[in-house]
Amino acid sequence: MGISNFLYRQMEKNFERASSNSKVNGREKAVPLQRDENALLTFAVWGDPQISFVSPLRSARVFRAVEDLKEADSLDALVLCGDITEYGAKCEYRFVKKLLECTKDSVKHIYAVPGNHDVRLRNHKKQLKRFQNFVASLGNGDTDFKNSYYYTRDLNGCRFIMMGTDMSTFEAAYISKNQLDRLKNDILSAPEDKPVFVFNHQTLKRTNGLPKTFLGKGKWRGSVGRESEKLKNVLSVRKNVFFVTGHLHYCTSEYTYEDCGNFKALSVPTVGVINHGDFKTMTQGYVISVYEDRVIMRSRIFGEGIYAEKNIPNAYIEAVL
Ligand SMILES: [Fe+2]
Repeated sequence: MGISNFLYRQMEKNFERASSNSKVNGREKAVPLQRDENALLTFAVWGDPQISFVSPLRSARVFRAVEDLKEADSLDALVLCGDITEYGAKCEYRFVKKLLECTKDSVKHIYAVPGNHDVRLRNHKKQLKRFQNFVASLGNGDTDFKNSYYYTRDLNGCRFIMMGTDMSTFEAAYISKNQLDRLKNDILSAPEDKPVFVFNHQTLKRTNGLPKTFLGKGKWRGSVGRESEKLKNVLSVRKNVFFVTGHLHYCTSEYTYEDCGNFKALSVPTVGVINHGDFKTMTQGYVISVYEDRVIMRSRIFGEGIYAEKNIPNAYIEAVL
């Protein structure tokens, strides 16, 4: 048995044990995710599952969250906003595939962007191929086999743009001029009366509570890094752009959503790991519904199958288009 197979078997065994751990909250109060008939589009976004062969508890939490998607009334999409795995290892992606398998009938598309943990340990080209193969291997996975992580999809009139680093980086991202140019073109050519959703793992400098929300570490940490200002300018080229990110492992809070003028910045908590901040409940993510005149973003505790209480800051966000 090869090392990857061996580790995968270990992950399976440890997952079974962790799943029966009482520390993972149950779904006794779960209310299935309903697609609002008046919405043009309803989709879920998860930050940082960070599935790892050293942490079976993360797999157990994400599995509970997946159950929520399985029971959903036809979601248009799930977007994985990076750090899908801890080490970008084959066995980890294989395990994520196993976890997501049961969403084939309830979630139409799964889109994914890479996080620093997905890319940091390997040659850029090789890891890109591994990542694309992983997304394509999901029954409902939707990717684009080109020579970068960047791709776009149009869904019910709304443009989805998936970004990703253009070289192997440890914590920030490298967004090349070419990617910034494509992003600008793709934002400007999207239907004017509909929102554009741009997904990237890291947020912008001094946005969504940085540096506090990355535990106050330095001026750039937690952000996309050097290209932050250039990226901000591109996101501002037209109205109703939603920049959706993960990476901070920070709970639903006053920092989650920021109106940056033409674009809005939504920083999604981690679904698999412990979140920083006051609202500690595990398995948080967002459900986004698009209407003709507004976008509604709701914090959901996927593992428990319920929405976060409205008294939590930014548990319910309404953006008028
Ligand atoms: Fe990250």
